[in-house]
Amino acid sequence: MAHMIDAEMLRVFTAELELCKVKPGETVAVLSAATTRSDYAQTFMVAAQTLGANVFHVNVPDHATANKAGVIGKTPLAGNRSAIEALKAADMLIDLMGLLFSSEQLEIQAAGTRILLCVEPLHVLKQMFPTTEQRSRVELGVEYLQKASELRFTSAAGTDIRYSLKQYPVMSQYGYTDTPGRWDHFPSAFLFTQGNDDGIDGTVVLMPGDILCAFKRYIQDPVKMTVKKGYITAIEGDGIDAALIRDYIDSFRDPRAYAISHIGWGMHERANWYHMMATGKLQEERVMNALSFYGNVLFSTGPNSEFGGKNDTACHLDIPMRNCSLYLDNQQIVDAGKIVIPELKAAGW
Ligand SMILES: [Fe+2]
Repeated sequence: MAHMIDAEMLRVFTAELELCKVKPGETVAVLSAATTRSDYAQTFMVAAQTLGANVFHVNVPDHATANKAGVIGKTPLAGNRSAIEALKAADMLIDLMGLLFSSEQLEIQAAGTRILLCVEPLHVLKQMFPTTEQRSRVELGVEYLQKASELRFTSAAGTDIRYSLKQYPVMSQYGYTDTPGRWDHFPSAFLFTQGNDDGIDGTVVLMPGDILCAFKRYIQDPVKMTVKKGYITAIEGDGIDAALIRDYIDSFRDPRAYAISHIGWGMHERANWYHMMATGKLQEERVMNALSFYGNVLFSTGPNSEFGGKNDTACHLDIPMRNCSLYLDNQQIVDAGKIVIPELKAAGW
């Protein structure tokens, strides 16, 4: 079946590649698995070519591991040496498959190739389309986070947890990338780091409305997690959510699955907390609204390999939390879900 290029999709993708500063003489590669998002592959190639780039498409066979929710790091590119080398030779890679947390992604980035992940449907790409203003705010947030030696977040529900910082880098996502070797996810706006090994202690209380991204589920009943030296030591709660989380993490049969992963906050003023309730249950949708919505504290469990750490467990839970307060070395950044530093605030918030 021949592909028609959708004019609206081409407009959106061309604007995105302009933000990524794709220019004549650059090489842009597109990576996809099987027939997934083949319309995106064709349209990104036309957009990149329109901007004067040389373009090619690497397509690999799909496997059950590709993009499976909550199971990360193993991709259909693993072991495909010639495909990996081709992607390393490109200036920019548009990843329609999902390389995040894989050693292949790190190797391609190390070669200087900037990577843009794009897996959300077009209506989400448009709704959350990035801006340079948003990037500036996220990068200012990065400066705050880089200076901090400790991150603490609390909630009226009983959350109080401290992360010692500095061992691992601070990372940002603002929905596009024009920097060699840098990865981003179109669309998104948040920032995060990883606590020091053994340096995370406290209590996290998940409350109704917090989001369990792996299950595309809003928490219904309180869940209390106790964290000692970077690991969850207890998951308590009488409702189904505590049972689901316990059973899910336990199913990996990996003690490293209980580790605490990245921590940070959301800054996207057009991402919506309620989104998943409205259309996010669609199979084609991912969770970028949930990860990015303005003022959420994004708590997560599992690996630290994205930061160069040793834990590459395949069990990863992203849990955006509402109504939390976040402090960096006792300076308040977020107050009950509202960003309070004037220069970090979006217009109208
Ligand atoms: Fe995550």
